[in-house]
Amino acid sequence: MTPADDASRPAGAGREAIGGAEARPGDRSVSAAGSGGPPLLELRGITKHFGAVQALDGVDLVAEAGKVTALVGDNGAGKSVTIKTVSGIWEPDDGQIFWEGRPVTIAHPNDARDLGITTVYQDLALCDNLDIVQNMFLGREKLRHRLLDEDEMERTAKATLADLSVTTIRSIRQPVASLSGGQRQSVAVAKAVMANSKLVILDEPTAALGVAQTEMVLSLVRRLSDQGVAVLIISHNLNDVFAVADMLTVLYLGHTVASGPIADFDSQVAVDYMTTGRSARDHAAAARTTGTE
Ligand SMILES: Nc1ncnc2c1ncn2[C@@H]1O[C@H](COP(=O)(O)OP(=O)(O)OP(=O)(O)O)[C@@H](O)[C@H]1O
Ligand SMILES: [Mg+2]
Repeated sequence: MTPADDASRPAGAGREAIGGAEARPGDRSVSAAGSGGPPLLELRGITKHFGAVQALDGVDLVAEAGKVTALVGDNGAGKSVTIKTVSGIWEPDDGQIFWEGRPVTIAHPNDARDLGITTVYQDLALCDNLDIVQNMFLGREKLRHRLLDEDEMERTAKATLADLSVTTIRSIRQPVASLSGGQRQSVAVAKAVMANSKLVILDEPTAALGVAQTEMVLSLVRRLSDQGVAVLIISHNLNDVFAVADMLTVLYLGHTVASGPIADFDSQVAVDYMTTGRSARDHAAAARTTGTE
């Protein structure tokens, strides 16, 4: 029994599957959008409180391999707390996390790492005083005869950046402090790739970036998902979301109010869900009820 079954939550206060029909606990319609097997990651009915603050109150979320899932919502909606439950920073009070269809407990960041989950935080991801190679191998340095294998680490770092078509970095031996915001973000993503991540979570990766740098990071996100990685991206910028996401999940006051393929939303519908928790202009729902879809 998941907390989403909790009768104390008023009917209709939960999420709406975009498309009009109300999604029920255990309803797999959200996750069924993919290739048939269980999704890589699924959150069902996640709740989390801090003292009197109910930060999460029924979060349902799916992230599938090879897809970019955008998690949006207003300030304080619960986006960061949600990804922190997946990253092993906070344990949920209730609800269940499924990984490849199996229930898992992610009680510590090491648990997340062992599953293949990497979270890229915009500002905290890299050490300014270290160079690119040192950053990419921080905590996972390669050794040879008990000494750092610098050549091998350089080769791997270079190859990873090249694979991701990150071409604007002049030297992988330059300190990260000397990189632009977009380049830093690219290095952080490349680090996640090197960790052989199955799920890469990006928290506001373009928040501080200019137009060109944003493009660069978004195309990197695209390439990452093209390589089969599940990408979960938090963003305030709906232009970015519509440019890069395959799936969209909207949180409102700590619970999921809409979830589905990005094509089922337009920016007005997304804004409606983000600001009021509902949308009178849900085109997919309208199409379905009139049988035109
Ligand atoms: N460590 C904490 N202690 C107490 N309350 C917290 C803590 N972290 C988050 N909260 C509360 O949980 C709620 C959700 O916060 P969260 O940081 O997830 O929002 P968000 O959707 O990421 O917002 P933003 O877009 O502003 O980053 C907020 O009411 C916030 O005040
Ligand atoms: Mg946040």
